[in-house]
Amino acid sequence: MSVRNICCIGAGYVGGPSCSVIAYKCPDITVSVVDLSQQRIDQWNSDNLPIFEPGLDEIVKSVRGKNLFFSTDIDKSIQEADLIFICVNTPTKSYGLGKGRAADLKYIESAARMIANVSCVSKIVVEKSTVPVKAAESIKQTPEGLVAIKALSDVYHRWVPEENIVTMNTWSSELSKLAANAFLAQRISSINAMSAVCEATGADVSEVAHAIGKDSRIGNKFLKASVGFGGSCFQKDVLNLVYLCECLNLPEVININDFQRRRFANRIIECLFNTVTNKKIAIFGFAFKKDTAIYVASYLIEEGAQIRIYDPKVDRAQIFSELTHPAVCNNPDRVEELVTICDDPYRAAEETHAVVVCTEWDEFVTYDYKRLYENMLKPAFLFDGRVILNHQSLMDIGFHVETIGKRLARNNE
Ligand SMILES: NC(=O)c1ccc[n+]([C@@H]2O[C@H](COP(=O)([O-])OP(=O)(O)OC[C@H]3O[C@@H](n4cnc5c(N)ncnc54)[C@H](O)[C@@H]3O)[C@@H](O)[C@H]2O)c1
Repeated sequence: MSVRNICCIGAGYVGGPSCSVIAYKCPDITVSVVDLSQQRIDQWNSDNLPIFEPGLDEIVKSVRGKNLFFSTDIDKSIQEADLIFICVNTPTKSYGLGKGRAADLKYIESAARMIANVSCVSKIVVEKSTVPVKAAESIKQTPEGLVAIKALSDVYHRWVPEENIVTMNTWSSELSKLAANAFLAQRISSINAMSAVCEATGADVSEVAHAIGKDSRIGNKFLKASVGFGGSCFQKDVLNLVYLCECLNLPEVININDFQRRRFANRIIECLFNTVTNKKIAIFGFAFKKDTAIYVASYLIEEGAQIRIYDPKVDRAQIFSELTHPAVCNNPDRVEELVTICDDPYRAAEETHAVVVCTEWDEFVTYDYKRLYENMLKPAFLFDGRVILNHQSLMDIGFHVETIGKRLARNNE
């Protein structure tokens, strides 16, 4: 069978971009991305898309209204579709059995029920959300599955080389996504563990990563030390896998990541003469996937620091909603009291004791750091949590610079 009409349930980080690309690559297929949230859909239909990915703006704007549609009319979109992607969120459960570890499947189930309720003919249903193994049992597999797999492969085949389209049994595919994220998280935690050894010994983690990355068995990707992994997926997927299979001995990965975030925040406190209470600290970067800023900011808020956050891509409401999420905060009033969101990096850094770089936005590299320095309190500290700045030139300006996985020799030491 050939697919003519696709419905994507869930207009989030996964559904929005991936279905925009499908619409772009397949002009003869009508793609509607639907969501319960009117606000999300309005954003997708506006000039300011809810998600930033390089190239996404151009792709969406070139096909939106032609064969790509964003809407809240879920029933109609399901009825019209031959193929339905389920791209709803599967957060870590915050209640009941498996609280804090298992994936919450209530959104998946509600999407599956909506499909069952409104469909009058057979549909191909694709589980794209990350789920524990056997989750598809609630969606139901049928003997026609092979036809469905072929129809889906044919869609991707328009632009993805055949050898990159991997087919396998449903349980393997569910486990592969969790396993991939667990392995990636493990790798980040390994290099981060090394960064602690480097700081204690005088080795430089970038040099170590470069050297070991030359070994083709190790490879050079995903070997950059940082403040720890962020984003919505690694933490929740590893927890989910751990819950699913305690015997894989994976909890350490989470522990190392918490350790790394806590270690970086502790370093900030230590450098600022062991107290940050009432001290102003600017955080540059709060973006999705790189959002360890949430944890660093929370630790500093716990210590009573006044935080000013600047991120060129994330809006005020999102920052507050993430910082006051029950998983990271038990006192939202304190967040309101201590956090200010700034729309200009120079204003954010004014009169602060320290600037902390938490994400890798290109613009952070090109700032006029001399100007920043002049308007900060002295000694002015710069914590480069992503190892992206030119440390020597910052030290020449007068900054006290701290970074991950390396001890920097200061001019006056
Ligand atoms: N974010 C990533 O980079 C990434 C990568 C791979 C896989 N995943 C997985 O994909 C899934 C989706 O992730 P995301 O980051 O896009 O989530 P998200 O929270 O950004 O988006 C999910 C959307 O689904 C909507 N939704 C929930 N229930 C619905 C329903 N019944 N009907 C219609 N809409 C509904 C929500 O309103 C929300 O807008 C998760 O399982 C995640 O683990 C995410």
